[in-house]
Amino acid sequence: MEYIFDSHAHYDDEAFDEDRFEIIESLKEKGVCGVINCGCTPESTETALALSEKFDFVYFASGIHPENIPAPEEDEKVFAKIKELAKHKKCVAIGEIGLDYHYEDGAPRERQIEWFEKQLILANELSLPVIVHDRDSHADILELLKKQRPKGVVHCFSGSLEMAQEVLKLGMYIGLGGAVTFKNAKKPVRVAEGIPIDRLLLETDCPYMAPVPFRGKRCDSSLIAFTAQKIAEIRGITTDEVLRAGKINACTLFGIEA
Ligand code: NI
Repeated sequence: MEYIFDSHAHYDDEAFDEDRFEIIESLKEKGVCGVINCGCTPESTETALALSEKFDFVYFASGIHPENIPAPEEDEKVFAKIKELAKHKKCVAIGEIGLDYHYEDGAPRERQIEWFEKQLILANELSLPVIVHDRDSHADILELLKKQRPKGVVHCFSGSLEMAQEVLKLGMYIGLGGAVTFKNAKKPVRVAEGIPIDRLLLETDCPYMAPVPFRGKRCDSSLIAFTAQKIAEIRGITTDEVLRAGKINACTLFGIEA
């Protein structure tokens, strides 16, 4: 039984430098049938591409994360690279892109918005969905999604159920990961309960965001089983049903054969 589809992972992260191939290799035995490795820079997207060529069940997304906005003089070169990498046959999305207003020393908001919007436009141009990062930036994210109307997912969804409903109205998906299992989780629990099951994507954001009982440890895609178990409890259905829906929804959104 292979139902675990991880719609958001970072196996290019240095946390996997010691045992990257072994970990990915072991996932299939643990029920993982698909992984999307999200790029954050041109370099990490290149690593993600290489992983997708090595492992048949690994796909990737090409993009510039809001914490990795280049210096303005690099803009053209970096954008051209992201676009080139996005044309690879195993690139299934533009991501991870978005806005992050959490850090005061982050890139200026105008620069983040500029990069987010031009990558939304690129996704539409290439008919690819987007994988969106939204941290403390809900209003601007919604405004730009409403303006550009991409297909895609808002990952590690941290907004209210009301915001989730706005995202759903745009035809997009909601990504839920380990945060739903955390003791202080309120909003993600309401979202997990309130959204239609056919709009839910499961994810890790590994190596980060490991679900309880592994919180704080290095995460990998197999731990989605614990996130799914929690969502199943919240919704009053079986873990299997949650995993199965997560897989089907990911395959539908990213155009992968189930
Ligand atoms: Ni991520």
